[in-house]
Amino acid sequence: MQTIYIQGGHTLAGHIRPAGAKNSVLPLLAASLLCGEPAVLNGVPELSDVDTSLALLRAVGAQVARCGGAVTVHPVADTALTGQVPAALAGAMRSSVFYLAPLLCRTGCVRLPLPGGCRLGPRPVDIHLAGLAAMGAQVEVEASAVTLRRRQPLCGVDFTLRLPSVGATLTLMMAACAASGVTVLRGAACEPEIEDTANFLRAAGASITGSGTPVITVQGGRALGGAVFTPLPDRIAATTYAAAAASAGGRITIEGCRPALLGEFLPLLRAAGCEVQPSGEGVAVTRDPGRPLRGGHSICTGGWPAFATDAAPLAAAMLLTGDAPSEIYDAMFQNRFACAEGFAAMGAAVRAEGRRLRLEGRAPLHSAAVTAPDLRGGAALMVAALAAKGTTTLTDTGHIARGYPDLPGELARLGAACRR
Ligand code: EPU
Repeated sequence: MQTIYIQGGHTLAGHIRPAGAKNSVLPLLAASLLCGEPAVLNGVPELSDVDTSLALLRAVGAQVARCGGAVTVHPVADTALTGQVPAALAGAMRSSVFYLAPLLCRTGCVRLPLPGGCRLGPRPVDIHLAGLAAMGAQVEVEASAVTLRRRQPLCGVDFTLRLPSVGATLTLMMAACAASGVTVLRGAACEPEIEDTANFLRAAGASITGSGTPVITVQGGRALGGAVFTPLPDRIAATTYAAAAASAGGRITIEGCRPALLGEFLPLLRAAGCEVQPSGEGVAVTRDPGRPLRGGHSICTGGWPAFATDAAPLAAAMLLTGDAPSEIYDAMFQNRFACAEGFAAMGAAVRAEGRRLRLEGRAPLHSAAVTAPDLRGGAALMVAALAAKGTTTLTDTGHIARGYPDLPGELARLGAACRR
């Protein structure tokens, strides 16, 4: 496993462009199984979760070709596919759950060993299963796997999600495209990646209205063709670069990120004293390294358009040196702030109490040997290390490679002293 070394105290400058959004690309690869003609995704980032998804697609019998940033999923007959997902691939990422609906619809039976991913607290799949059961699937839950069967095509249904789960909304939207009749999903999640997945499915011929709102209606049973599709830019990668500039100081331009996708993070940057200048599809973030960031923030995460849970550790990292205490409450996951241990090792006064993280601010951060606890927590430790005196070593960096093509290299190109 690689170690990342970050010497703090270097300001950032330059331009950077986020790749395609991980959380769009991963469901889109699964959704491609529903297409009857080639599905071409452009701008697919080089992430270990993408590698795992391509391996999973091949393991279940799909034909996949990758050429640079373009991935093509070629159609195969139903009989060429199996619904048996290998445990090693299912357990390597949360996104293996996206294969439940397409494989059930295509093969009639899917067995999915329980998905892995970041350990952010309990991550059940009950809403995915309840929705698919309402559409007619027979669900069998074992200790470490779920098996779903159908005797006939799934049926459209009027289903209310118990809470607006991003993953379950995507699962049920995909299932509804293959089901017969109309499906109405109520209490759906509204994240931009859901609208992006709906756009892909529509490009392939699906009839979906209301995606991006809490009520999604799908007219199912239409045979899908193919699509050539470019996913959204990665809003959490863009947020990471912005947090890095705020932590290290300097001025960077994040090109092509569509500033509106950064949601509540840009107002936070402004409130903390950064200059934020949207320009067209991009945004410039400037922080005077001679002045501390303003603290005193109280942040609560939530579903889109509220403050993104994935941005919470990144916001925490930049506010460690703020001039006043701040606190962040994560409404989505029980264990979002496992990175607090690393922050404390760097000299920050932080207290993680369940879903709440209290930051005293005013920390003179110093280097430490820290471990990435999860994907965004690992990125947050890198952001904090940019403002720390000395060279921080970060281990267990495989988590970071799941969601960023080359974060150390990208920060180094912006002027950080960062290497593997
Ligand atoms: N939940 C249930 N039952 C379910 C599904 C979800 O109780 O059947 C709960 C979860 O336990 C969690 C909450 O609902 O407490 C929210 O989970 P959600 O399903 O919305 O999240 P997800 O689909 O597992 C995706 C992203 C996450 C991102 C969240 C929230 C992917 C692959 N992952 O996860 O991204 O934090 O939505 O926006 O799309 C990341 O990129 O690092 C990451 C963790």
